[in-house]
Amino acid sequence: MKTAGGSETAKRRAGERAAEAVTDGSVVGLGTGSTTAYAIEAIGEAVADGLEVRGIPTSFQSRRLALEAGIPLTDLDAVSGVDLAIDGADQVVDGGGHDGALIKGGGAAHAREKLVDAAADRFVVVADPSKLVETLDGAVPLEVLPAAHTVVAERVRELGGEPTLRDAERKDGPVVTDNGNLVLDCAFGPIDDPATLASRLSALPGVLEHGLFVDLADATYVGTDEGADALEH
Ligand code: A5P
Repeated sequence: MKTAGGSETAKRRAGERAAEAVTDGSVVGLGTGSTTAYAIEAIGEAVADGLEVRGIPTSFQSRRLALEAGIPLTDLDAVSGVDLAIDGADQVVDGGGHDGALIKGGGAAHAREKLVDAAADRFVVVADPSKLVETLDGAVPLEVLPAAHTVVAERVRELGGEPTLRDAERKDGPVVTDNGNLVLDCAFGPIDDPATLASRLSALPGVLEHGLFVDLADATYVGTDEGADALEH
């Protein structure tokens, strides 16, 4: 679930810094969320100035933003690879043994995000400083088949988590993802071993994807009010 983020200036700086890393002729994964939106806007401006790229959106939102920005789009099954993926995060581990581990899915797009981010030669996270943590401790979103939500919720409790079915805003009932599924936000407290929890969640029948991204991010561009710092993972 989304929490109040950092400053818009910091998000913009991070997004613009990532857009500068896009090279001519490349295929770019376009993540979802308010920070990546700034990268999409900046890539669109570069396209207007002559940069040739093809974007692969990770959600309805990023597809719409990319079309508005004038970025030519393609699909994963139409390319031989993805050169760079740019995506936001809800939490990013900075330092220590789990450096670069992420929680994603605050916007319920983590299934397609993971597909595209994992396919990329380089995956760059864009974030403001409020996203950096020593230990992941946010709720982990699980995209679940509608018929599976009660069964998965029970399995999550057995793993020590507290699941909450994500409710929609301005619609009665739950959030329905771009893929027609539901989201369980699962609070585990501090996650000392993200890789083990990730594999346990992946093993649950009915879970399409979870929001733990372990060993996927190559770098995080952290925007500030002055510029952006690149953390290599
Ligand atoms: C989408 O489901 C998420 O993974 C987002 O990428 C994440 O919530 C970051 O979004 P913001 O940049 O809006 O904080």
